[in-house]
Amino acid sequence: MTADRDVPAIAVLGSINMDLVTTTERRPQPGETVLGTGFAMVPGGKGANQAIAARRAGADVTFVGAVGDDVFAPELRRVLTDSGVRVDRLRVIAGPSGIATIVVDTGGENSIIVAGGANAGLTELTAADLAVIAAADILVCQLEIPIDTVAAAAAHARSHRTTVLLNPSPVADLPAELWADVDVAVVNSGEADELGAALTRVPHVITTRGAAGADYRGPDGRGLSCPSPRVRVVDTTGAGDSFTGALAAAWQRGPEAALTWACAAGALATTRLGASASIPTAAAIDAMLADWAPRLGSDIR
Ligand code: RIB
Repeated sequence: MTADRDVPAIAVLGSINMDLVTTTERRPQPGETVLGTGFAMVPGGKGANQAIAARRAGADVTFVGAVGDDVFAPELRRVLTDSGVRVDRLRVIAGPSGIATIVVDTGGENSIIVAGGANAGLTELTAADLAVIAAADILVCQLEIPIDTVAAAAAHARSHRTTVLLNPSPVADLPAELWADVDVAVVNSGEADELGAALTRVPHVITTRGAAGADYRGPDGRGLSCPSPRVRVVDTTGAGDSFTGALAAAWQRGPEAALTWACAAGALATTRLGASASIPTAAAIDAMLADWAPRLGSDIR
């Protein structure tokens, strides 16, 4: 672990998907068919999005994950390498890559179904994966890969004093041993409600609240709240991932700076269609912060 270094080393263990995005005026009710207004294929997946977000926000990032051997795999790999994410821990598992079917309405809200594909086959961590985690300042995980793999990575990180940041999404029941290894949790307000008491065991909890910004609660119970800058929302897909990756990249600067930086990144990510396509660079985040200097509150809602 090299905690004093300016550029943090981040290992992101998680999913990578091809997002099949249909835009529509409104999302269908159960049993209903509606006409779409457009279609795009954009690389995504919470793991890959967070890896790219941390990299674009200035961190040195290695992605630990899996693609299939299908037609989508080369493009999924390319979006990581083009962003400067290290892919030597990206393996190929025979079969389909992860696929996310996404519907985005004119308000920018989405519905998402993920077919795990190769992500579900990420059941083992190799010695090389474990070495990357041990050498990282921060391990970032989500829950689109098998939970046992996340738990093994978190335990290994903890034993090497690598900070563990978990974005428990999609929300699931997690073993107490995994929660015990988590240093930082990033949840949205719905996930916070579902997880309830489990989050009280985590020293640092950040709750995102969409256009209302985000809250932080530290180990001493201290709270901070940061508003969100006003932007024209096109698509909220991946905004939480941009927030989480940017937060991880800035975590060593302290919760106040990291929260502000992440709120700017999350808002910027809503202004374009497509998860990985909308992730802002450090320069874009800096430009926003030059115009928008939020007053952080010390309350928790
Ligand atoms: O968080 C957004 C992501 O969720 C999408 O990119 C999709 O692939 C799903 O993993």
